[in-house]
Amino acid sequence: MIWSHEEGPTLSISTPPAGSDAIEALLAESRTFAPPASFVANAQFSDPSIYETAAADPQAYWKSWADTLEWMAPYEQVLDWSNPPFAKWFTGGKLNVSANCLDRHVAAGKGDKVAYYWEGEDGDRRAWTYAELLDLVERFASALRGLGVKKGDRVAIFMPMVIELPAAMLACARIGAAHSIVFGGFSSQALADRINDAECNVVITADAGYRRGGIVPLKELTDEALKDTPSVKHCVVVERMGSKLPAPINWVEGRDVWWHELIAQDASHGAPEAMDSEDLLFLLYTSGTTAKPKGIMHTTAGYLTGVTATSKMVFDLTDDDIYWCAADIGWVTGHSYIVYGALSNGVTSVLYEGAPDWPDKDRNWEIVERYGVTILYTAPTAIRAFIKWGDDYVTRHDLSSLRLLGSVGEPINPEAWMWYHRVIGGERCPIVDTWWQTETGHIMITPMPGLTTTKPGSACQPLPGIDAAVVDDNGVPVQKGSGGYLVLRQPWPGMTRGIYGDPQRFKDTYWSRWDGLYFAGDGAKLDEDGYIWLLGRVDDVMNVSGHRISTTEVESSLVEHATVAEAAVVSMADELTGEAVCAFVTVDDGVEKSDELLAELRAHVSERIGKFARPKLILFADALPKTRSGKIMRRLLRDIAEGRDLGDTTTLQDAAAVHDLQAQVVAQRS
Ligand code: WT7
Repeated sequence: MIWSHEEGPTLSISTPPAGSDAIEALLAESRTFAPPASFVANAQFSDPSIYETAAADPQAYWKSWADTLEWMAPYEQVLDWSNPPFAKWFTGGKLNVSANCLDRHVAAGKGDKVAYYWEGEDGDRRAWTYAELLDLVERFASALRGLGVKKGDRVAIFMPMVIELPAAMLACARIGAAHSIVFGGFSSQALADRINDAECNVVITADAGYRRGGIVPLKELTDEALKDTPSVKHCVVVERMGSKLPAPINWVEGRDVWWHELIAQDASHGAPEAMDSEDLLFLLYTSGTTAKPKGIMHTTAGYLTGVTATSKMVFDLTDDDIYWCAADIGWVTGHSYIVYGALSNGVTSVLYEGAPDWPDKDRNWEIVERYGVTILYTAPTAIRAFIKWGDDYVTRHDLSSLRLLGSVGEPINPEAWMWYHRVIGGERCPIVDTWWQTETGHIMITPMPGLTTTKPGSACQPLPGIDAAVVDDNGVPVQKGSGGYLVLRQPWPGMTRGIYGDPQRFKDTYWSRWDGLYFAGDGAKLDEDGYIWLLGRVDDVMNVSGHRISTTEVESSLVEHATVAEAAVVSMADELTGEAVCAFVTVDDGVEKSDELLAELRAHVSERIGKFARPKLILFADALPKTRSGKIMRRLLRDIAEGRDLGDTTTLQDAAAVHDLQAQVVAQRS
């Protein structure tokens, strides 16, 4: 079928990201909020000259942060940018990330300070001091060495939010093995793909995990994945549920080992390895514009410098804070701001295992009250859910301990920002809306809480030492008041060192569009005051509840289903999740387009990728609308999915097919 509408390249600023009505509203926002005087009075960063100082000599600026770390051997050069886009920071230095996160605090007399207040979804609670966490990490590091894990190896981690998760990460970092964490919501197939890409030799998991009162059968999923992962020699299993599980887990003698048996042995081989600044710290897979996820590489010194500095600056961390980043460690937010940035700063954090609405919708506020949380970092999708659940769940708790609020993962709509400010923050807490990515390693664009006058919905400005800009199609910075693409112009310490096993893809994806500029994939607008407003992705990547999902990956999983001939996936605006997945599916001749098939296709995507990637809406299309050159007309599909008026459809050659799809949207949405 030929459609007479020609569509421009997929990647174009003229393509409005999902929910363009919402963007109109965003850009009409004119309220401003100066940092509250009560906050400024005690803020650690209240001198605006930090921006100029850092801009005048970014390397000296980042050096000053690197010098707050503990080094085993000094570095020679701050930045080696002789082979862009492959940066090297703090070359020649030696250090260990786990020693910086644990040993140095214990050595400084902070062993009895709480590192994590851990709270299980089932109500289990335990405080872990820095000394106790160090002991656990030493034991497990020793155990990993005993299993044959060496410096340079890769270890996969597929775990719930239990204390053993940060302990496992730090133990890997301690012995120089890179961890590759796979979020516990992924399917066994996704786990197997990631294990195989990195050729991990050990997998760490748990018998199961709790989620919203239900059970996530992590060991069962791991067993399934391990049917096809020849590199894996051992599977370490944390006993989280034990006898509470309905049936005992499967056990492969020789391969499977209990965590508690391993750490009961002595910790004599738990000493930290002296790692080179540029040694691999971890891999974290993220979705791109193809079906194959990218193993984003982060190395030792630059990453640690970046997360240490940004945790301190953006969250104004002090020794007295009770800090809670309510993300999952399985995503980069948890890596950088639950584990490495928090521990490196020696702060006390909350680590909560479960869902915010279990057993009831006030769980988060109960936690804030119980521990006296002072800093809360969460996602707009969660904030929108809290709004929907009603203020009552919030106001029944005392949240007066809070002094700073953060947001991450997707653009925050001004209504959500205002509610967060008013209801959670009691109008006294600055809000830091932090823009960054798995690839950037740490926060890049954000207000500084004691310095920046914020605007609801804007991530405001690049941090000191960060050079971000909004550019047009030619890579030229736009005028104030205009939109374009977000780019980064100077290397930064936590920047990814590339894609595991695929240096060319790293160049092609991020660095090929304009010479010397890192292309983030986001659309942005620079307002009259020079503030940056993020407008969503401009590539084929969706953002559902702050989780990055590739349209192509969902499409190829659908096409794998026996009944599907072709599939097109677009994101559509969603009140709660920001964006949601919508799939247009063409089935083989003779296949019945039934509700059962719709359910089966959804389940199929869950199985191939994970539940969070399930299409919210699936529409049966007789054929997919394509341009003359054969490109799927995604903009048209998104308009259909969002129920927008398509205007004059008579120019479309197959108007009847479009009307049929529109009718399906109405039917499925009602
Ligand atoms: C993409 C990165 C950053 C950790 C969690 C997601 C979007 C992230 C914001 C924000 C607008 C944001 C961007 C970015 N994003 N933070 N504050 N405002 N958009 O990490 O999975 O690597 O996704 O999330 O589109 O490119 P990620």
